[in-house]
Amino acid sequence: MNKRQFLKTMGLSAISVPVFSREFENAITQHKETEPLKLAKNEDFWAKIRKDYKLNPDFINLENGYYCITPGPIKEAFFKNVEECNLLGSYYMRNSRFPDNERVRKALAEVAGCDFEEVVITRNATESLDTVISGYDWKPGDEAIMAEQDYPSMLQHFELMARRYGMKNVVLSVPNHPENDEEIVKMYEAAITPKTRLLMVCHIINITGQILPIKKISEMAHRHGVDVMVDGAHAVGHFEYKINELGCDYYGSSLHKWLSAPLGVGLLYVRKDKIKDLWPIYGDTGFADTDIRKLNHTGTPAVHTDISLLNAIDYLNKIGIQRKETRLRYLREYWSDRLKDVPNVVINTPYSGKTACGIGNIGLKNIKPGVLAERLLKEHKIWTVGIDGQGVHGCRITPNIYTSTAELDIFVNAIKKLAKP
Ligand SMILES: Cc1ncc(COP(=O)(O)O)c(C=O)c1O
Repeated sequence: MNKRQFLKTMGLSAISVPVFSREFENAITQHKETEPLKLAKNEDFWAKIRKDYKLNPDFINLENGYYCITPGPIKEAFFKNVEECNLLGSYYMRNSRFPDNERVRKALAEVAGCDFEEVVITRNATESLDTVISGYDWKPGDEAIMAEQDYPSMLQHFELMARRYGMKNVVLSVPNHPENDEEIVKMYEAAITPKTRLLMVCHIINITGQILPIKKISEMAHRHGVDVMVDGAHAVGHFEYKINELGCDYYGSSLHKWLSAPLGVGLLYVRKDKIKDLWPIYGDTGFADTDIRKLNHTGTPAVHTDISLLNAIDYLNKIGIQRKETRLRYLREYWSDRLKDVPNVVINTPYSGKTACGIGNIGLKNIKPGVLAERLLKEHKIWTVGIDGQGVHGCRITPNIYTSTAELDIFVNAIKKLAKP
């Protein structure tokens, strides 16, 4: 009996197993014991990982923050998943869709560091976070705290809540170079009033790459009886942490970003004791009020995309989150070390330790961000994005694990040239 017949009779999984190249497997095995920082500097190792990617020869992609393209093994597995689901059609949906979903949720919960009954697969961070924002029974006068550096979709969703229910939004501005964690915590604390119900905070600010002290913010907010919702769109698959150690109540992420899953897949975490009081956007009364799946009824989903998440998790686990985090941090420090003292250069990302990872932002005093991005592309074939607002003026630079230091040297030389008065 072949796999397909077996699947038909048993109603089993349609999730394929990713195939890794021998070169990739050998490189991983060879460096099993290599210390992450040493490996981060080993260009030969990362050149082998780079071979998994089909890259556009027309430009150097330093804009992986939008979404991270999928490497070959995940892409091939995704294609097979599409084929398998398409072949089985509604037979798959009726027999295997839910068991597969549960299997993927369990693997995702392990990567994210939470109980699987606290996590569902969504389409993206927007869906996850807006589900929480909409899930509150807002009353006139209720308050929520957020920052101007938060993502516009969420800020706008809060704005809708204000228009609809008469709640109030208090918007702060996070400094690009805070003195320490306490400065950030105190800033959020100062915005809390007896009417505050929810505090939204980015785990990593997308336009600067600053990583915020979520655990300390959560502890402070909870002392005041305020819930914490974390926008972790850029965090899963980027650096190592566990959601349940952050102490937050809600967490949303986009997994087509740093986890490199195919486009259209995200994560919503709701702490167990918080599920009951959250209203779903789309009705599904088949689940108990305490079951997180009540928040996940968006109709027929792209199941082949959702199940490919397991393939993306396999790929991440092969490389190892510690190695990936260390390499991404090394790449940002690589370009930023070479540019920080160049006249006219302004680095908009904190430098020290764990306050940043792969995302950075660089501005030039003599060129506006939009023009800088345009000139980097036209004159140097480097793709970035200009940010000119929300207290940030510069280009966001987001390499990925396929990025070589040779490419960063080209970027560094381009900036040195453009920075000249
Ligand atoms: C901080 C942050 N939050 C949320 C989002 C929304 O992600 P998506 O469009 O995948 O829902 C983004 C997208 O870039 C982001 O940077």
